[in-house]
Amino acid sequence: MKSKISEIKVEIDQFEINSIEQLEHFRIKYLGSKGLTKELFSELKNVPNEQKKEIGQLLNQLRLDAETKFEETKKVLSSSKSEENKLDLTRPGEDHEIGSHHPLSLVKREIISIFSKIGYEVSEGPEIEDDWHNFSALNFPPEHPARDMQDTFFIEKGEKEIALRTHTSSVQVRVMENSKPPIRTISPGRVYRNEAISARAHCFFHQVEGLYIDKGVSFADLKQTLLYFAQEMFGEKAQIRLRPSYFPFTEPSAEVDISCTLCNGKGCNVCKYSGWLEILGCGMVDPNVLDACGIDSTIYTGFAFGMGVERIAQLKYRVTDLRLYSENDIRFLKQFKSGM
Ligand code: PHE
Repeated sequence: MKSKISEIKVEIDQFEINSIEQLEHFRIKYLGSKGLTKELFSELKNVPNEQKKEIGQLLNQLRLDAETKFEETKKVLSSSKSEENKLDLTRPGEDHEIGSHHPLSLVKREIISIFSKIGYEVSEGPEIEDDWHNFSALNFPPEHPARDMQDTFFIEKGEKEIALRTHTSSVQVRVMENSKPPIRTISPGRVYRNEAISARAHCFFHQVEGLYIDKGVSFADLKQTLLYFAQEMFGEKAQIRLRPSYFPFTEPSAEVDISCTLCNGKGCNVCKYSGWLEILGCGMVDPNVLDACGIDSTIYTGFAFGMGVERIAQLKYRVTDLRLYSENDIRFLKQFKSGM
């Protein structure tokens, strides 16, 4: 009997349990109502009296060992089971919300891509400018109202004036000073004007200005380039019209309108029943500007144009309040998700 007990003890110790099924098998085999420990207990009556006490103790210990192994293994198995539940690899992944490009970036990129198709390169320059690049080289007379404190954020006044650039024409001055014609460049960037913030004006906005200088560049080239741009940006049906205007750095100068994108020129409340929407300023580069930038105006001519990115975006997306572009309201920005 003793040796039988120790054999079963070894068996119990070595019994491998890796699953709930094996655990149940173990329970039935050693602890069940027809299990081995029960069977041994029932054999106790055949043991001689003087050995009963010792054998009884051994049997009790054996049953305790089996029960302990059962309980402990059960604990291990059930905790690893809940671990498995936590890690369900078949569950769909968590959705990470992807951000979107800012509408002004979308429009700026589109403008750049339209002009790069016809050979324009992108040039950039500093937002803090000196008087020469922002005004003087561009033929602004000293008393010109645009230099006035009302329009310009001055950083330093006096002999060497430093200001936040009021347009990216300043970048074009830098390009003209540093390269030789033919020049085909567009200058996107942020510009600053000292204006009260409202739905229609802001103290900063974005521009893309263009410049083309070569031998024999004419006003007809300018017109054709702008028509190409309008039709690429607003669709084949878009038409343009030019109205005489004035800029110190261009002569002659014009404001450009496109046929209203909403009513196709018939007249609606967006175009104030005129059929036309103003989109940019342009003109032939003034010979004074070419000479100031080291380009011989007796050999070369050129045209320049400048547009507000906010204005183009407004016409494209019908955003009526300029302030929305810089308020970072996620409900506004989310609407441009489909943009690339
Ligand atoms: N620089 C002008 C502005 O900021 C725009 C412009 C550029 C007009 C080039 C004509 C030619 O308003």
